[in-house]
Amino acid sequence: MRSNADELISYLADIVGPRWVKTESVDLNHYGKDWTNDVNPNPSAIVFPASIEEIKLIVALANKKKVALVPSGGRTGLSGGALAENSEVVVSFDRMNKILEFNAEDRLITCEPGVTTKTLQEYAEEKELYYPVDFASSGSSQLGGNVATNAGGIKVIRYGMTRNWVQGMKVVTGEGQLLDLNRGLVKNASGLDFRHLFIGSEGTLGFIIELTIGLSSLPKGSTVILVGLNNMIDTMTVLEAFRNKLTLNAFEFFSDKALAHVVKEHALQKPFDKICEFYALIEFENTTSSDLDTAQSIFEHCFKCGLVVNGTISQSSREAKKLWRFREDITSAISKYSPYKNDISVRISQVPSFLSELDELIKRIYPSFETLFFGHIGDGNIHLNIVKPAGLTTKDFYKECEKVTEMVFGLVQKFGGSVSAEHGIGVLKKPYLRYSRSKEEITYMKAVKRIFDPNNIMNPGKLVDIN
Ligand code: MLT
Ligand code: ZN
Repeated sequence: MRSNADELISYLADIVGPRWVKTESVDLNHYGKDWTNDVNPNPSAIVFPASIEEIKLIVALANKKKVALVPSGGRTGLSGGALAENSEVVVSFDRMNKILEFNAEDRLITCEPGVTTKTLQEYAEEKELYYPVDFASSGSSQLGGNVATNAGGIKVIRYGMTRNWVQGMKVVTGEGQLLDLNRGLVKNASGLDFRHLFIGSEGTLGFIIELTIGLSSLPKGSTVILVGLNNMIDTMTVLEAFRNKLTLNAFEFFSDKALAHVVKEHALQKPFDKICEFYALIEFENTTSSDLDTAQSIFEHCFKCGLVVNGTISQSSREAKKLWRFREDITSAISKYSPYKNDISVRISQVPSFLSELDELIKRIYPSFETLFFGHIGDGNIHLNIVKPAGLTTKDFYKECEKVTEMVFGLVQKFGGSVSAEHGIGVLKKPYLRYSRSKEEITYMKAVKRIFDPNNIMNPGKLVDIN
């Protein structure tokens, strides 16, 4: 007699073909997790559909057999949204990676969800257009995952989050219905826009199976300035000075401690001879003859006021890329230390007071841990990473960190901020969702999940629990 697991695998093989159902432990380990640290992947199978029809059949099967499905994109998430630890079937979009249509008049690309961010960016550039959502993981992250987590990144200050660029979307709900949402319309005031429920739903409502993405004009030119500061709070005064007179594409910050990891990992030279406690990386639009002079005079003004103590400006796109590396390579440089990650945000105006209270709290509660501040401070998003000391196991270290997470999130709540600015809730932040969302909001989230996914087959255990 065949076991239930064998039977399930044979049904899946009937849908996608035996070649596209994988059960070897190397595949289960690889596809059963994302970039989240300290997890135990344990899916029952990985399935690789190639069409909407196949996805509909998988969903129908999962409802009939009450099997949990985990949607899987580039698995670059950091909150465990793509984790499969409980014998789920992982549904990978690796084969659904085609660009289906480009419409120059509408400035829209329609594509399958497995297209990577970088592929979309390059395709847009070939058409002399621009897809502005960008992050260090753009080479691996897939559009479906970006939309499911409403990914942010380094250009949010100028272009907003992924949500702003989703003009249409086809989904198969957990119940198995195919919905064609918004169809690329610019204006549409015909009632509830379900597209926005699926953006940021982390695969808990259904599968995103096709996307229509809006594109922007190609930016004409940009320049990067890296400035050194003596304290974190001054960063926001510097932001104000630059933002008032220039168009900013990005405004990022990082501490010298974070920079030290990048410099060590890649044997780079620090940007300045003199050590600065903090750095701000400012990318601004440089299209008129006066933009550079303006940047120079703002820098001089900030220098005279003692806000910045050092600075360098890119003279070419190669130099700009070099400066960006100091910021963009932080995550990969510290990944070997299994850092405990925070991805918090408050309103831009609240950043200085929030940072001073956070800094005071961190010094008090983590006196012996190395804490790294960096992130997209220009949009209010701070990544506070705590580095694991060599002597502690990851489990013990995380336990220690979790003891104080409530205090950090209590502060976030006091400032009306978010416990997840761009990484999503997944499993990691699920116990803390209540610090950012009210009891009533969470009740409505659960009710929405029950409507689209009555049998709770879609990514159960992520974002909210409905059982
Ligand atoms: C980044 O902006 O580099 C990542 O989102 C932050 C992180 O790895 O914590
Ligand atoms: Zn980030």
